[in-house]
Amino acid sequence: TAPVITIDGPSGSGKGTLCQALSRELGWHLLDSGALYRLVGLAAEKHGVALDYAAGLADLALALDVAFIPGEAGQPTRVLLEGEDVGVTLRTEHTGHLASQVAVVPAVRDALLQRQRDFAQSPGLVADGRDMGTVVFPEAGLKVFLTASAEARAERRYKQLKDKGEKVKIGALLKEIEARDARDSQREVAPLKPADGALILDSTDLGIEEVYQRVLAEARA
Ligand code: CDP
Repeated sequence: TAPVITIDGPSGSGKGTLCQALSRELGWHLLDSGALYRLVGLAAEKHGVALDYAAGLADLALALDVAFIPGEAGQPTRVLLEGEDVGVTLRTEHTGHLASQVAVVPAVRDALLQRQRDFAQSPGLVADGRDMGTVVFPEAGLKVFLTASAEARAERRYKQLKDKGEKVKIGALLKEIEARDARDSQREVAPLKPADGALILDSTDLGIEEVYQRVLAEARA
């Protein structure tokens, strides 16, 4: 089986950037598991499936018709849901909110399990999420738990949104991050926590470049 690196951690810890850089450098596949939960949320909205109808959501998740099309040089990956490009809506706060609701449904998580494991193909996989090392790939050769203080994460998100021209208040972002942390770590299914044997990195004071170099060194060790 192909080697797997799992990167888990809370919202805004820098996982996404780290995983993209690693997969590019190593030439390995990338699994953005959050995108799958977002897609299930979008599909539920599109088909009018209630967010508390577990069996209906699980059916949607199992049958999810999605394609990830790698972009040409410098372009982001295109995501098609039932043939329709959902690149923009996939990343909105609204979709993130839908995702966090479907993510607490155990039948949805089970339905996505095999689809996620199928990403582990030669020459290797970098898996980004909340439960990559604990549930989906417990046998991974390298597991990383990337965290940072809520303040540092709020500040990063603030800069990102400001660069995109969105008007946001840092206090509101911090509250939202703290609320999401609480939901992610206290939920019954696949709560956010470091996997056994995980390398725990705190990016509060470590630059994202230093984090990248450390993980890359471990990956090559
Ligand atoms: O970057 P952000 O945390 O806002 O979003 P994401 O990583 O795309 O994840 C969206 C939602 O899916 C989050 O609310 C997570 O709780 C959930 N999720 C999950 O439960 N398990 C995963 N492996 C990945 C995401």
